Amino acid sequence: MKSSASKPSVKSSAKLPVKKTVAKKASLKSAKKIKRVGVLTSGGDCSGLNATLRGIVKTLINDHGVEVIGYRDGFKGMIENHHKKLDYYDVSGILAMGGTILGTSNRANPFRHYDRETGNFSDISKQVVAQAKKEIDALIAIGGDGTMSMASRFTDMGLLTVGVPKTIDNDLLATDLTFGFYSAVTTVAESIDKIKTTAMSHHRVMVVEVMGRYAGWIALYGGVAGGADVILIPEIPYRLESVIEVCNRRSAEGKGFTVVVIAEGAKHYGGELTVQKIVKDSFDQIRLGGVGWKLATDIEQSLQGVEVRVTVLGHLQRGGSPTPFDRILATRFGVYAAGMVMRGEFAQMVALRGSKILSVPIAEVAGKNKFVPHDHDLILAAKSVGTTFGE
Ligand code: F6P
Repeated sequence: MKSSASKPSVKSSAKLPVKKTVAKKASLKSAKKIKRVGVLTSGGDCSGLNATLRGIVKTLINDHGVEVIGYRDGFKGMIENHHKKLDYYDVSGILAMGGTILGTSNRANPFRHYDRETGNFSDISKQVVAQAKKEIDALIAIGGDGTMSMASRFTDMGLLTVGVPKTIDNDLLATDLTFGFYSAVTTVAESIDKIKTTAMSHHRVMVVEVMGRYAGWIALYGGVAGGADVILIPEIPYRLESVIEVCNRRSAEGKGFTVVVIAEGAKHYGGELTVQKIVKDSFDQIRLGGVGWKLATDIEQSLQGVEVRVTVLGHLQRGGSPTPFDRILATRFGVYAAGMVMRGEFAQMVALRGSKILSVPIAEVAGKNKFVPHDHDLILAAKSVGTTFGE
């Protein structure tokens, strides 16, 4: 069965068209000798960015004798031509560090540059690309779907670019996983473990709201790993009655507490997304948040006398040291991306398929998202062990 989730239409204004650039691959390969490479981290941060930077910089310096510069704060650094040379020792000792040593921004966009004084948007990409071409022979852009779109367009404009996917949401097409995802899932699972003990003591219903934007990957994996009783994801609109039924059944069975994990993009059947705020100059203008509080109010009204508490995990899911799995994936992505630059695989993104690292054309993935299918094996497994999805 296909998933019912999709991005809301307000996002389309921030979306970038992508042209097919795959055919250029071979000719670009021989066109240029790579001596200096730029790297940037763009969009929301996640655990594993520094491990990726370390993989890229060490490989380019050690294996190819190439100089590397890092742009500050993503595309903001390219717009302002603000960068710094990255030496071997700049990336030494950062494997296990959260965040990004380069800084990042999910607002700077050369194709839709926001002028704070006038409040107008304009396309300054030509100047930005012209300046970058004076500084570097190729660019490695680490980011989400917005960044991948820009990477593809930059290559069309003559700035040879390779993409490295990252996001805690794991919603990028063409790669089985992005680093940052399992680190976020670990935070969710460990949080549920803690929440469960206090839920048991007080005989409460505990609602845990997690990130993930319009996809339910974090809620699904984190919820299953934490043994949540109810998991609500954007791809499956929920019915309040179904959640209430679980709480009542557990009460009747003498359990006396229920843990509900809800993705920030979840909505009840026939309902709307819960939008926390609009960030006008961001790649994706919508910031989700607050659906957990709505659900808690509804549960409390239906279950007179039962106490409900809400925990919004928020940015805890993005911070901190990457798990060993993410350190390894990030290292493999970084090393492979450096190789892609040297092999001339531009307008391509590094990806994980099964256990293999390979490159895929960005044009095939940019601007698209990967949602949880209703018949995903983890949904079926969760149902088998008694978890409800609110259908
Ligand atoms: O895409 C990563 C993500 O953490 C989403 O899960 C979340 O909706 C969003 O970014 C939050 O963005 P910000 O850091 O701008 O609040």
